[in-house]
Amino acid sequence: MTEPAASPRPQLSSDATFPAGFAWGVATAAYQIEGAVNEGGRGPSIWDTFSHQPGTTINDDNGDIACDHYHRWESDLDLMAELGIPSYRLSLSWSRLQPTGTGPLNPEGVHFYRDLLAGCIARGITPYVTLYHWDLPQALQDDGGWPARQTAYRFGDYAGLVADALGDLAEHWITINEPMCAAFLGHSWGMQAPGFKDDRLAVAAAHHLLLAHGLALAAFRTRRPGTKLGITNIIGNLNPASGSQADLDATEYWDAVSNRIFLDPVYRGRYADATVAAYGKYGLTATGEGAGAGDLVQPGDLDIISAPGDFAGVNHYTNMLVSAGPGTDGTPSWTHVQPAPSSFGWSNTPEALKAVLTRVAAEYTQLPLYVTENGVTFHDYVDPNGEVRDPRRIDYLRGYISAVGEAITDGVDVRGYFAWSFMDNFEWAEGYDKRFGLVYVDYGTQTRIPKQSAYWYRDTIAAHSPAA
Ligand code: NOJ
Repeated sequence: MTEPAASPRPQLSSDATFPAGFAWGVATAAYQIEGAVNEGGRGPSIWDTFSHQPGTTINDDNGDIACDHYHRWESDLDLMAELGIPSYRLSLSWSRLQPTGTGPLNPEGVHFYRDLLAGCIARGITPYVTLYHWDLPQALQDDGGWPARQTAYRFGDYAGLVADALGDLAEHWITINEPMCAAFLGHSWGMQAPGFKDDRLAVAAAHHLLLAHGLALAAFRTRRPGTKLGITNIIGNLNPASGSQADLDATEYWDAVSNRIFLDPVYRGRYADATVAAYGKYGLTATGEGAGAGDLVQPGDLDIISAPGDFAGVNHYTNMLVSAGPGTDGTPSWTHVQPAPSSFGWSNTPEALKAVLTRVAAEYTQLPLYVTENGVTFHDYVDPNGEVRDPRRIDYLRGYISAVGEAITDGVDVRGYFAWSFMDNFEWAEGYDKRFGLVYVDYGTQTRIPKQSAYWYRDTIAAHSPAA
């Protein structure tokens, strides 16, 4: 690990404060890094199936090998420790642990994750574990997938088994990562597994993902009363493109179907009227009161979904300008505020993260918040000195981490920040084209090269970690 001579020093905004015990971390997800898809008794997931269909991902990339983390986890954790990263958010592959999504856990899968989590602890790294980051066992997809209600119950069973097998090795557990993407990118937009384009399926998937969260929380809590549990939602910041009523309505609509559809049920115990107005045609009701057998929302579902957790996970990437769409179907159109020259064209507008955190605390929950993901992709490369210099990522991180610290100064209870991602990885439909890592991965040789931003993050963590 050769550090570039001229690493920028950590400098955050002077209004940013971070409490003792603040969790500074990095995040990854199983399918994006593990590879070894046919090893250790792992069963296929919907991402294996989807990524092997030609045309679904950039260059027909897939996660068969990815970062080969399954074989390299020890050196990856060594590097994480060398970079002074105290917390690590990772996800479990459901089909590695339970190959068909039912029945007993696969002992080899349990062994792998026990070693991995113990390996974190042995290096002084605190693991934060996500139970589901989009890789549904294919066998459950064959039985209907997330649009089918029984999938939520399978997930509750899986969570209970994981609590028994691994629950002693981590304190913080995230049930589901970004149900928005799993439901809508996977079932409405067709750009993620399982690749459907059907709003009715997407809305059913959304409700069942939320139900799955609630069932998992209850199952885990029963077996491991001491653990801290929560769900991670992706929350975009939305701004009306103008003061016109049409743009204000479009913004409210987009908020209802992308943010509120997941926030209101968990933190307020009912779907918002605006969400029901949009998706009532697909069977969504506010609480399921008076529902008959076979209706999407059943009586009692919202009680399960809104059972109190211990923290709220927030993933944040986008800051959008929303305007009334050109069509007649009421769908708005949106663009990124000040599109930054990142390879996704997303914004570098840190105030959006502060706005999102402030909103969640003011409107939804007094639970501690964790920024469970935030980051940016660029076309990083190894320069002739063998270094990966990414000053724009440093600029981005400096701004967004400062925004978190400013939110804390203003009284928002934020307990952690996890940069997406520890290392470059399989970016879903974008394959290996998009690099989000603090560590560069040369996929052909599986060499890891910490980018300049990794050293900056290390120094920032050290400078802003008050002695506990
Ligand atoms: C959120 C997802 O959780 C993660 O898997 C993905 O790679 C990042 N966004 C970047 O798009």
